[in-house]
Amino acid sequence: MAWPHGARLLGVEWIDSDHMALGKRVGELAERIRNSGSEEVKTLLSALLQETQSHFTREEQAMKDCDYTRVEHHKEAHHRLLEFLEFLRDDVGSGQTALDEKMIDNLWNWLNAHIATEDRAFAKHIQWQAIDNTATTTSF
Ligand SMILES: [Fe+2]
Repeated sequence: MAWPHGARLLGVEWIDSDHMALGKRVGELAERIRNSGSEEVKTLLSALLQETQSHFTREEQAMKDCDYTRVEHHKEAHHRLLEFLEFLRDDVGSGQTALDEKMIDNLWNWLNAHIATEDRAFAKHIQWQAIDNTATTTSF
């Protein structure tokens, strides 16, 4: 399943860029689904987990920096995905569980839904705050 092109763009460059990098990584995993348990898949899963953690840390710090009120709710959503990725890294990486299409679909579905809801709301907040700051610093 492909990540619908354009559906993930939120208009905040660093968020869009991080999301595209994560999408690329999931796409690589989807291509290698039959080599579950291989060294290559283990490496990809570890890289995906690490990149996702870094992205979530960046988002959560940005939320704190701009006093975003839904930060705790958003962090809980991040935590749930990290748990799923840790499961994939440990169980699939060790060969105990086979990486299958349903797992990849779950990953795409989670990312698409999260980006379309929680991340979209945060991106709007950033964009409104930028407009607000411009309005208060502009003298007429
Ligand atoms: Fe997020």
